[in-house]
Amino acid sequence: MAVTKDFLRQYFVASACALLLVIWGCSSYDNNFYKPLRGQSGKDVVWIATQDALVVKMLSAAQVTEQDLVYDLGAGDGIIPITAAKQFGARAIGIEYNEKLATLAQANALRSGVGDRVKIIQGDIFVEDFSKASVVTLYLLEELNAKLRPQILKMQPGTRVVSNTFSMGDWEPDQVIDSNGHTAYLWKVPAQVGGGWTVSGLASDGKSHASHIHFDQRYQRLSGTMTVDGKKQVLLGTRIEGNVLHFSFLNAQDELKHVKAFVDNYQLTGEVVAPYGMVELRLPTQKITALRSVNPQ
Ligand SMILES: C[S@@+](CC[C@H](N)C(=O)[O-])C[C@H]1O[C@@H](n2cnc3c(N)ncnc32)[C@H](O)[C@@H]1O
Repeated sequence: MAVTKDFLRQYFVASACALLLVIWGCSSYDNNFYKPLRGQSGKDVVWIATQDALVVKMLSAAQVTEQDLVYDLGAGDGIIPITAAKQFGARAIGIEYNEKLATLAQANALRSGVGDRVKIIQGDIFVEDFSKASVVTLYLLEELNAKLRPQILKMQPGTRVVSNTFSMGDWEPDQVIDSNGHTAYLWKVPAQVGGGWTVSGLASDGKSHASHIHFDQRYQRLSGTMTVDGKKQVLLGTRIEGNVLHFSFLNAQDELKHVKAFVDNYQLTGEVVAPYGMVELRLPTQKITALRSVNPQ
């Protein structure tokens, strides 16, 4: 009996000590972490974290998958790169100027179990290279977005850009995202197709007459004209989405035809398909190719 009492006393003392050690250990672990203050100043913009629900909506709108490399410019505590890795399976890189925030963000990634897929670079977004991103996320300011815009527009066509709250000046978004009164915007970097193209394969008689197309481009907005055998027509439904180009034209039989083509720098390859909602019966597929007749600026 005495042994049991002693044993119990020792057991409770040991348990209490262990509990105290755990509590002390946990709190000292937490206290080691830097606690940023909402609205604290940063190099070019203050720190405020994007709300969790909006982060998910932004990454969903950008259709992030495990194939993506997401860059968050001004990563703060890492919420966006961590969510991109944890919920969307992507690899993610955050660039954060504030050293303490950068350390915290990397530690948060480790604690969230995605330390192997999230890297935080302590650096300046105007110095570090983010050109390999397939998705760029921003929560900066309109003027900072405008400063980054020329660099973003040179990125791989189809790169998705999502910005919390702030727009890109006169580059209209492709999508507006709403979440509990908060707004974000999505853009897809368009391929640059402005200028002249010499196209073959558009003639419906199967002969390879060359047609000339001229596109005027402002970001993703396009207009165009096509000249075949000296006859000029305005193209309809011209649009560019990433590197996918669409336009419609009237062929020699006055039939409306639709072209879907892929842009690869100086070349277009695609095919003539039926206008939306209609089934093209004619075989074989009418392929088109085009080369730039004037080099882009
Ligand atoms: C509004 S917070 C957004 C944080 C995070 N992206 C989010 O959405 O939760 C902007 C962050 O950018 C950082 N920052 C400001 N200027 C920067 C610069 N030139 N380079 C890198 N980070 C910068 C700030 O320290 C801050 O953490």
